[in-house]
Amino acid sequence: MNREFIAKHWYADVYEQIENQTNDVDFLIKVLNEYTDAPQNILEIACGGGRICVPLAEAGHTVTGIDTDEHMLLRCYRRMKGLKNIRCFSADAVTDNLGTGYDVVVLAGNVLINIESETDYKQAQITFINKAAAALRPGGHLYLDFQLLFDDAKVFNSQGESSYFEGTDDMGTFGRTVRYGSVYDPVTQLCCGTGHWELTANNGENFTVIRNWHKHIPKQAQVYKWLAEAGLTIEKTYKNFSDEKLPEPIDESTYRATIWARKK
Ligand SMILES: C[S@@+](CC[C@H](N)C(=O)[O-])C[C@H]1O[C@@H](n2cnc3c(N)ncnc32)[C@H](O)[C@@H]1O
Repeated sequence: MNREFIAKHWYADVYEQIENQTNDVDFLIKVLNEYTDAPQNILEIACGGGRICVPLAEAGHTVTGIDTDEHMLLRCYRRMKGLKNIRCFSADAVTDNLGTGYDVVVLAGNVLINIESETDYKQAQITFINKAAAALRPGGHLYLDFQLLFDDAKVFNSQGESSYFEGTDDMGTFGRTVRYGSVYDPVTQLCCGTGHWELTANNGENFTVIRNWHKHIPKQAQVYKWLAEAGLTIEKTYKNFSDEKLPEPIDESTYRATIWARKK
């Protein structure tokens, strides 16, 4: 079988096994309960395996999830079995039309720094926000949740081997991710890293997949400006999944930003 298929299947399966935290999903449902009084028509952009959009449907909302990764989408499709108020499909949030008229658009799970696109990274981040705004009805809300750090250089300049996950998928492929560090440029705000996945197929064959990557790490003021330019007014901010407002500028204890913003 095609190695890329085996590798992507492995990643989606082990991601689902390991990335199964619910605190951010519970927080999103709490915010929706606070600000809405009826089931909402929700679009989750970059829904992955459905970790967030499936609980939203279980909470009674009508949900659409889109993602580019079909291995992830298959997991979402399996998780949503039996639920009549959810659909998911393949779409690229940078290049495709995501529809219109949604009450709420969700950009969560730190997707702002996990974008896959051929487009310039910063431009892709701006496009994600513009596409989210375009998909909302007037008066609808964007829920944006992303990592926001006081000292990007401290976190994103790192050297040495590390692995953020390993495991065996449902087809018997074993693998581990390996990183050798990353470098952050404070002027361009680009962070570049190098690494690979080490995989053993279920017939014992070993192979590696090169995983060099780069991201643009946005600042608070930049995200606020992108939201304003997309026609979104910030109504509420939350620091580290708590009821505390995000300070401006953020302080040393900030690691996560959640924003509830209204389309004019
Ligand atoms: C970190 S995962 C988050 C998944 C899910 N929201 C969660 O929190 O579990 C990021 C997801 O973004 C998707 N993604 C990245 N670039 C995308 C793009 N241009 N259009 C749509 N989805 C994209 C990836 O395929 C991946 O499933």
